[in-house]
Amino acid sequence: MRIVVLVSGTGSNLQAVIDAVRAGELDVELAAVGADRPGTYGVERSAAAGIPTFVVDFKAYPDRAAWNAALTEAVAGYRPDVVVSSGFMRIVSADFIDAFGGKYLNTHPALLPAFPGAHGVRDALAYGVKVTGCTVHWADAGVDTGPIIAQEAVSVDDGDTEETLHERIKTVERRLLVSTLKSLAAGAKSPN
Ligand code: GRF
Repeated sequence: MRIVVLVSGTGSNLQAVIDAVRAGELDVELAAVGADRPGTYGVERSAAAGIPTFVVDFKAYPDRAAWNAALTEAVAGYRPDVVVSSGFMRIVSADFIDAFGGKYLNTHPALLPAFPGAHGVRDALAYGVKVTGCTVHWADAGVDTGPIIAQEAVSVDDGDTEETLHERIKTVERRLLVSTLKSLAAGAKSPN
């Protein structure tokens, strides 16, 4: 199973995927890592790991449609079976998702459909929930919508800040992402 991973930030979840592949625990081919802006640590760490990287800079295109078309072309060049949005902070068009047969996987640091959007951790904390968590799902063209594959709960502790809570969620999120990719890769190999 070939995967392309899209990042906007540090890519620590991506690092868990890289580590699992290197350790022989996850049988996927990391075809490439792409970002929507230059200078991300996610791309830097991928390049250091010898993974092909690319940037389709959102700000370099006149509009979202032009950026989407360029992103689709760049990703398609790596012929992925699955595209993974791992901290990729842009909404892609339905055309992009269709180009990859709907195989667009997203991770989100909240228990969807609660707290979608760019500030899932902050919003959960502000609401005062005592339990939040993370979700791995097939993404459609909405904001953190689409069929849920896996979820796990994380308790909110007294005194949690957005940072401390997000770090605890990400520990779980990494494991969930790797185990989801393992299941998908195993399914891709099975005769049915
Ligand atoms: C993850 O919690 C992801 O779900 C969210 O941003 C975080 C990405 O972190 N949207 P990293 O770039 O993998 O460190």
